[in-house]
Amino acid sequence: MFITIRNKKMQLPIIQGGMGVGISLSRLAGHMAGLGGMGVISAAHPGYAYPGFETQPFETNLKAIKEEIKKAKELAAGKGLVGVNIMVAMRRYGEMVKAVIEGGADAIISGAGLPLELPKYTKGHDILIAPIVSSARAAQLILRTWDKRYGRTADFIVIEGHEAGGHLGFKEEDLVADHCQDNETIFNEVKAAIAPFEKKYAYEIPVFLAGGMYDGKDLAHALQLGAAGVQMATRFICTEECDAALAYKQAFVNAQKEDIVLVKSPVGMMARAINNPFVQKLNAGKRIERTRCYQCLIPCDPKTTPYCITEALIRAVKGDVEDGLVFCGSNAYRNDGIYPLFQVVNQIMQECEENL
Ligand SMILES: Cc1cc2nc3c(=O)[nH]c(=O)nc-3n(C[C@H](O)[C@H](O)[C@H](O)COP(=O)(O)O)c2cc1C
Repeated sequence: MFITIRNKKMQLPIIQGGMGVGISLSRLAGHMAGLGGMGVISAAHPGYAYPGFETQPFETNLKAIKEEIKKAKELAAGKGLVGVNIMVAMRRYGEMVKAVIEGGADAIISGAGLPLELPKYTKGHDILIAPIVSSARAAQLILRTWDKRYGRTADFIVIEGHEAGGHLGFKEEDLVADHCQDNETIFNEVKAAIAPFEKKYAYEIPVFLAGGMYDGKDLAHALQLGAAGVQMATRFICTEECDAALAYKQAFVNAQKEDIVLVKSPVGMMARAINNPFVQKLNAGKRIERTRCYQCLIPCDPKTTPYCITEALIRAVKGDVEDGLVFCGSNAYRNDGIYPLFQVVNQIMQECEENL
């Protein structure tokens, strides 16, 4: 299954979603690309384990992202694509985009806010750009802004539904009451919203569905709807190649359906995580002391935020799954073991073919 996005090619219709902090770095992304998909490194503190991070976090992150892209490209050995996920809510967004371009990534995928200015930074460079959207309204707003201000459109789009992991683009009341739009409805509405831009730019924008995409049946269904493929994240955590500590992966293997809960992020958005003593403290309204401020998120006010999300995510990726924040998608409980990535991908592709 070849997929062409502008001048770039993938051999599989699967994007491995970017996962911060440190869950998807060069090892997972490079191996994913090596199998022919798009491997995505998260730009949320990629330097957390690099020397210098504690004293100069931002500068270390810039150095780390370039290093991680280089390593991923080496692992990919010319196959698939290597992308980077950059959250709009992160401070010094433009500087990070510049580093990613210099690092030689194939694509930037950007969400957790509206990436209205992304084309300004990528102009004149050979890099694909894609927004992550959770509604047709957001897709229309982004594409209209890109068209008016920069005379261009998206190279591809990722739709992230309410079953996703990490930050969620849905209101708390809708998530709690299970009133969110389903992926199929959002997909159809997004397709209608982007049609005028596809016509104007004579380019069919590939759309990837994300959030709760877990097996080959989900992939087959997405393709039947007219998607170019899927973006999956939770499914790839329980692989040998995932960059997180073994305890993080094991927390997924051990999780039951009822352990998957919602939490509030200092970004101001809701997020999904595995229930643990840390989440219980948060949801009981307790403030969790932090040791410092990394000045990473624009919407986070260290004076009022009940916890530092960077510290909580770093504890988790290093294996402290009791006092860390273990982000996960709604399907986390379905992971029953830790497998080599190629085995997981082969299973998804085989199941997909059986269901097409
Ligand atoms: C542990 C974890 C961390 C994530 N971190 C990010 C992130 O830093 N930026 C982002 O845009 N999305 C992030 N996501 C969302 C994923 O990239 C992906 O779109 C989503 O989880 C897809 O749903 P799935 O997990 O059900 O496959 C994260 C998801 C998980 C599970």
